[in-house]
Amino acid sequence: MFVSLLVVVLGLRCGGGSDSGASGELLLDRPKLYGPSEALVTEVVSFFCKLPNHPQNESIEFHLFKAGDRTKKLAEYTSLRGEDGVFPKMIKLSYEGYLACVASVQNNSAVTPTVSQMHYLKVIEPVKGARIIPLGPVELFEGGEVELQCRLSAGNHASFMWLRDGHIINPSLIRADDIFAISRATSEDSASYTCVATNTFNGTNVFNTSSPELHVTVKARVSNPDISFTVFKESYQSYFCVVSCQLTRGTPPIKFSLFNGTDLVSNVTVQERRTTFKVPVVLDQHLGLFQCQASNSNQTANSRWIPLEIVPVGGPVTMHFEYDMEDNYEVIYLRLYCKPERGSHPSFQWYHNKKPLHDRGSFYYVFNQLPGQSILLVSVGEVSAGTYHCEVSDSFDNSTAINSKRRYLDRKVLNRIPVLVSAVVFGCFSVIVLLVSACCAAGVIFRRRGYVEATL
Ligand SMILES: *[C@@H]1O[C@H](CO)[C@@H](O)[C@H](O)[C@H]1NC(C)=O
Ligand SMILES: *[C@@H]1O[C@H](CO)[C@@H](O)[C@H](O)[C@H]1NC(C)=O
Ligand SMILES: *[C@@H]1O[C@H](CO)[C@@H](O)[C@H](O)[C@H]1NC(C)=O
Ligand SMILES: *[C@@H]1O[C@H](CO)[C@@H](O)[C@H](O)[C@H]1NC(C)=O
Ligand SMILES: *[C@@H]1O[C@H](CO)[C@@H](O)[C@H](O)[C@H]1NC(C)=O
Ligand SMILES: *[C@@H]1O[C@H](CO)[C@@H](O)[C@H](O)[C@H]1NC(C)=O
Ligand SMILES: *[C@@H]1O[C@H](CO)[C@@H](O)[C@H](O)[C@H]1NC(C)=O
Ligand SMILES: *[C@@H]1O[C@H](CO)[C@@H](O)[C@H](O)[C@H]1NC(C)=O
Repeated sequence: MFVSLLVVVLGLRCGGGSDSGASGELLLDRPKLYGPSEALVTEVVSFFCKLPNHPQNESIEFHLFKAGDRTKKLAEYTSLRGEDGVFPKMIKLSYEGYLACVASVQNNSAVTPTVSQMHYLKVIEPVKGARIIPLGPVELFEGGEVELQCRLSAGNHASFMWLRDGHIINPSLIRADDIFAISRATSEDSASYTCVATNTFNGTNVFNTSSPELHVTVKARVSNPDISFTVFKESYQSYFCVVSCQLTRGTPPIKFSLFNGTDLVSNVTVQERRTTFKVPVVLDQHLGLFQCQASNSNQTANSRWIPLEIVPVGGPVTMHFEYDMEDNYEVIYLRLYCKPERGSHPSFQWYHNKKPLHDRGSFYYVFNQLPGQSILLVSVGEVSAGTYHCEVSDSFDNSTAINSKRRYLDRKVLNRIPVLVSAVVFGCFSVIVLLVSACCAAGVIFRRRGYVEATL
């Protein structure tokens, strides 16, 4: 009996080529594990465990394990007639990692089991159900932080792409694959964001999922408002003014408030960057200092203070002129100035030979940009000859017109002036010749740029 067993063992050794220890006991080879390195979750794939020299007449048990966890068998196979171990498996996500198979002789714990090399399995679950989860507010003011995360209802090994209004965002601006963040948002970051997650299987099957759009609104804070006002006549001796408050920046809705000193006159919330307030006024009275305030956040921006005082046009209206000469003392340009003694809202009308002048004509140009006065620029020639005067009225009430004196001006009249002025200056110069040379200098300047009050 003992001998026959020894023969069997020796026979195994010679015929089967299986290793035996020096003591004669059976030694198993290391099995080899074969199978795909990548698999789709829920698909059924097979792994194979091969023993190079299968001992004849021995049943071999093959076990498939997750490396590092031998207590949990993934599959087993008993090979009775020397065939390879086969493990058809429905792939689960948890299978991902290093797998190994173990070979052992059935009902013979005396033979040491052997373990295959490690085989890495990557399990792919197709990406599904992308959506953007904001990790902070999606409606914020400039300078705030935006942080968005792309989450999937399923899928692994995903790579992410972010789009702003349908355009791919440069990946170098993306903090982490699934997180898109802007540390200091500007109004240009106001957009609809989408994330797209992708994974691939076997280098050929591409899965992707696109999230619904998520809108981020970056609001601009209000700039300091500009304040101005226009006066209107409502009926006889009844006036009001329209105070206008305007912003260059700020995302509506904006709350505007009008203050008279510390008193709130009125407030309104509007969907644009400008508003107006109607305030009844009394003429010739100081009506206080007014200010606009604008706000669309917890910060308020203020305009400058403007005094509200409406003085009707009054007193004499004066007209004076200056002229420019060529080198030969020929007057070529004339500037006529018109100014009332008082009046906070004057409106001007120039006349040439009693005919009203418009903003510009063949020989003239009207400047009304300076406050409180109007300038008429005249190119001196044949057509410019004639009588000039100006008329001033309240911009809110044209029934109060006051006229300046009239003045006849033509080339002859004008060219007499430089001669007259030179004579006066020369006379002065000869009488006080020993006085400071400043007088002389002033005289020369006076000669080149004349100034005459129109007091005909
Ligand atoms: C295999 O074992 C059976 C009995 O289990 C035996 O009859 C047979 O001779 C053995 N064959 C070999 C090659 O050892
Ligand atoms: C191994 O043992 C089991 C019970 O433990 C038995 O059912 C089976 O027949 C045995 N196999 C062999 C080849 O001896
Ligand atoms: C993997 O791709 C190769 C071709 O690139 C193809 O022959 C093979 O069948 C694919 N395997 C699976 C499991 O789809
Ligand atoms: C996503 O998949 C669709 C087909 O399902 C394909 O037309 C599209 O090009 C893919 N997009 C990307 C970004 O891979
Ligand atoms: C003005 O502001 C006050 C206090 O903030 C508020 O109670 C009132 O409703 C506002 N009025 C308007 C017209 O917005
Ligand atoms: C502004 O306030 C002053 C003092 O409170 C008041 O006298 C004045 O009439 C106010 N102005 C307007 C336009 O209401
Ligand atoms: C406005 O609110 C922000 C946070 O929303 C806060 O950081 C800031 O200090 C506030 N500013 C003021 C003037 O209250
Ligand atoms: C004043 O203006 C009104 C319309 O604004 C016009 O009808 C009227 O003729 C003007 N009166 C004078 C004196 O210019």
